[in-house]
Amino acid sequence: MSFLQIQDATVTFPARRGSEAFTAVKGVSLSIAKGEILGLVGESGCGKSTLSRAIMQLQPLTAGRILLEGGDLSKLDSHQLRMARLNFQMVFQDPYASLNPRRTVFSTLTEAVRARTGKLPKEALWERVAALMQRVGLNPDFALKYPHEFSGGQRQRIAIARALGPDPRLLIADEPVSALDVSIQSQIINLLLNLCRDLGLTMLFISHDLSVVRYIADRVAVMQNGQIVELGETGQVLTAPQHPYTQKLLEAAPALRLAEV
Ligand SMILES: Nc1ncnc2c1ncn2[C@@H]1O[C@H](COP(=O)(O)OP(=O)(O)OP(=O)(O)O)[C@@H](O)[C@H]1O
Ligand SMILES: [Mg+2]
Repeated sequence: MSFLQIQDATVTFPARRGSEAFTAVKGVSLSIAKGEILGLVGESGCGKSTLSRAIMQLQPLTAGRILLEGGDLSKLDSHQLRMARLNFQMVFQDPYASLNPRRTVFSTLTEAVRARTGKLPKEALWERVAALMQRVGLNPDFALKYPHEFSGGQRQRIAIARALGPDPRLLIADEPVSALDVSIQSQIINLLLNLCRDLGLTMLFISHDLSVVRYIADRVAVMQNGQIVELGETGQVLTAPQHPYTQKLLEAAPALRLAEV
């Protein structure tokens, strides 16, 4: 059984004043095996983030289903959904926007841990926070610092530690390196790769850039105008793309930019 199954998912945004109804995701079917890293690539506006929000149940589907280990997520009541959501965590493009500037790393990470465990004694919380910081390559001595006191790459590490806080099983990383310097990108990609391997996490890795995905994904799904136009093993898709759109994306991808990974 697949870990995550997306069956004929469609998301239509209703018409509003000044805009017509728009279908951002059109009948997408994908499955992700446990422990697999699936890359989702496609140009800006093709529907990648909308699909990820639908998986998180943050965006209702107009049609189709999302199954987690065979269970239909739309059938959960609000309490069950809150608990199920702890199993999926997201990492976003811009860690500065996604972290609360008024909270220390300790405060951000304890909230993430407590989402799963409820109240914990202070000592146990410190232990958890220190372990999370070490896991993402941060020095726990900096736990009482604020996001602006860290570099961009370190902030993304904090955001990743926060995502790990509730002990998730699926990570959805939506352009997690596209706001970072190229030299930092490969460090963060390696970190995500190692976390998936060490913790047995499954990951949906979203990027507009095929050269980023090639180093991390087991398989790649190529999305165009709300549809998956190509899906296959990463090596195969990158060396022998079948769909003209994939060929176009590959031509646009900076060559082997992350060769040092
Ligand atoms: N709430 C909304 N209401 C109406 N249209 C929306 C809404 N959210 C997204 N869209 C539209 O749906 C399409 C897909 O958007 P989405 O954010 O999923 O694209 P994306 O592939 O993640 O793009 P990017 O690479 O720029 O992040 C876009 O045309 C966008 O304008
Ligand atoms: Mg997006």
